[in-house]
Amino acid sequence: MAARLSASPVLSYAALLSRRVAATCFRRPFFPFPSSGISLRGFSSQPLALVRDSPFTDVSVQARRGRSSQVEDLASSADLCFESPLKIVEYPDPILRARNKRISAFDENLRKLVDEMFDIMYKTDGIGLSAPQVGVNVQLMVFNPAGERGEGEEIVLVNPKMYKASTRTLFYNEGCLSFPGIYADVERPASIKVDARDINGARFRVNLSGLPARIFQHEFDHLQGILFFDRMTEDVLETIRSQLKLLEKKYENATGLESPESIDKNITGQRKEIAGFAQRKEITGFARR
Ligand code: CO
Repeated sequence: MAARLSASPVLSYAALLSRRVAATCFRRPFFPFPSSGISLRGFSSQPLALVRDSPFTDVSVQARRGRSSQVEDLASSADLCFESPLKIVEYPDPILRARNKRISAFDENLRKLVDEMFDIMYKTDGIGLSAPQVGVNVQLMVFNPAGERGEGEEIVLVNPKMYKASTRTLFYNEGCLSFPGIYADVERPASIKVDARDINGARFRVNLSGLPARIFQHEFDHLQGILFFDRMTEDVLETIRSQLKLLEKKYENATGLESPESIDKNITGQRKEIAGFAQRKEITGFARR
C-alpha cells in the first residue's frame, strides 16, 4: 500500500505506540496489537475510528478446502527465490494476478526476503507490501503503519487468513505501490479478525481496526490476486481509468507484449462480485479463476 495512507491518521496512530523498535524487529515473534484493540483506544481519527461491538460476518473460506489442495499450495524453495535488490512489480504484470502459495519453511531465506521487502517498502514510501508485488508468489505481507524505519511497528504476516469482517464498512483513499501515483476511494470492512503465522512459524490470531485493518485488507487482497481497483465503484474507477490505461501502455512498451488485462474490457459483473465479498461467506479467490 502506498504512502498516501500515512497522512495524518498514521501520525496519531504511531504516537500511541509506546515502544520504538529497531529496524530488525521483524524477527520479533509477537504481533503488536492486542486482540482487545486497546492499544488503538486513542485512534479516533475519522474515518478509521475504532469500532467496538460491531457485528462480524464469517468470511473464512479455508475450511472448505480439501487437504490435497493445501498440500499442492505449498511453496517450494524455488518459489521463494528472489533477486536482490527487489523491484516493485507494477500493474498489469500478470505476477499480480498469479496464485500465491503457502509458506512452510520459516528459515533464513524467508527472513532475508522480509528484510528486503521492508527495505523497498520504506524506499518507495509505502506502509504495506505483499510478496507478489516484489515478484515472489507466496502468502506473505509486511507492513508498518508509521511508514518509517525505526518508527511504529514492523509487522510480518505469513499465510494470513481473514476469518471475520465487520458488517460496518468505510471508504478510504488508498494508494498501491504497484500503481504509482494512483489514489482512489475503496470501501472495506472497518474491523477484521485475522489468523496468521509470524516469521518463526508460530500461529496467532488478532483483531484489527483502524489503519492496520485497512492495510491488512489491501495486502491480503494482493495475496488473493485481487487489486484495489477491483473493489472500486464504477464512478470512482472512472476517475483513474486513464491512469490505468497509461500503465497498461507502459507495460506494453516495456515488454513488447499485449497487456494481459485491460481496464476497458473489465467486466462490471465480476468486479461487483469481488467488491461484495464481505457480505458473503466465500472470498473471491482462485476457485473462480
Ligand atoms: Co497494493
